[in-house]
Amino acid sequence: MIRPDAPVLLEIRDLHASVDDQTILKGVNLTIRAGEIHAVMGRNGSGKSTLSKILAGHPAYTVTAGSVTYNGENLLELDPEIRARSGVFLSFQYPVEIPGVSNLEFLRVATNARRAHRGEEELDTFAFEDLVRERLAVVQMDPVFLDRSVNEGFSGGEKKRNEILQMALLEPLVAILDETDSGLDIDALRIVAGGVNQLASSDNATLLITHYQRLLDLITPDYVHVMAAGRILRTGGKELALELERTGYDWVDQELARLEGGRTPVEVG
Ligand SMILES: Nc1ncnc2c1ncn2[C@@H]1O[C@H](COP(=O)(O)OP(=O)(O)OP(=O)(O)O)[C@@H](O)[C@H]1O
Ligand SMILES: [Mg+2]
Repeated sequence: MIRPDAPVLLEIRDLHASVDDQTILKGVNLTIRAGEIHAVMGRNGSGKSTLSKILAGHPAYTVTAGSVTYNGENLLELDPEIRARSGVFLSFQYPVEIPGVSNLEFLRVATNARRAHRGEEELDTFAFEDLVRERLAVVQMDPVFLDRSVNEGFSGGEKKRNEILQMALLEPLVAILDETDSGLDIDALRIVAGGVNQLASSDNATLLITHYQRLLDLITPDYVHVMAAGRILRTGGKELALELERTGYDWVDQELARLEGGRTPVEVG
């Protein structure tokens, strides 16, 4: 929901970043206010996951210019752990497996770190089990997954559901979901989308990275952005995603060429 007077949770200004001396992000600008759902779309390799990993603090990427303000703080100065504790959540495109670490214990430690940051008391094993059982309902997940190692041997869809369970426990201020819809069967897609909708509130914000309208049929974005060659080339409302379904990304090359020629990106909607 768009409220022009809502507090800005994330402000990305002219963000440039590189990995292994290769420039990937070339001036990303994005403002996200509380209550908003943003969708980022774009061709493979346009920089969507790179943007999400930089926001989470992935050490492989170097920010070479620009700024990111999160809830009034300089995000880029915060360690990845502090970002997570203070409410930045990233659901990875490819969630990692952590053999030997129980999913339940991992979730408990992460949840308690977040609670401690908010000045809430830590939950002991019993109290946490009650909470986790309640939150399992958000993604309709079987409790047997709590007793396994984190994501180890989980199917693609089970990993994605586990990510949303984490999100339900951590109650992030800014949730970045990188292709959470990929690999989900039709029922799981509805369940995961329902979970995201249930967790979205007027106090937090969601950034969905997706390739497909089918997710946006279930989660209505306030804004849709198209990334190309490391920047946001176009911004519109939810109708922009429908337009992309029809037109594909052929127009992107023309617009990039125009941009290289010195013009500014086109605003739509
Ligand atoms: N560690 C790395 N080393 C070299 N190149 C990288 C690295 N990380 C990202 N890149 C390159 O940066 C570009 C952007 O990658 P990114 O993963 O951000 O794309 P994406 O928009 O998420 O694509 P997809 O839709 O396929 O997930 C790609 O060309 C990729 O090969
Ligand atoms: Mg990606």
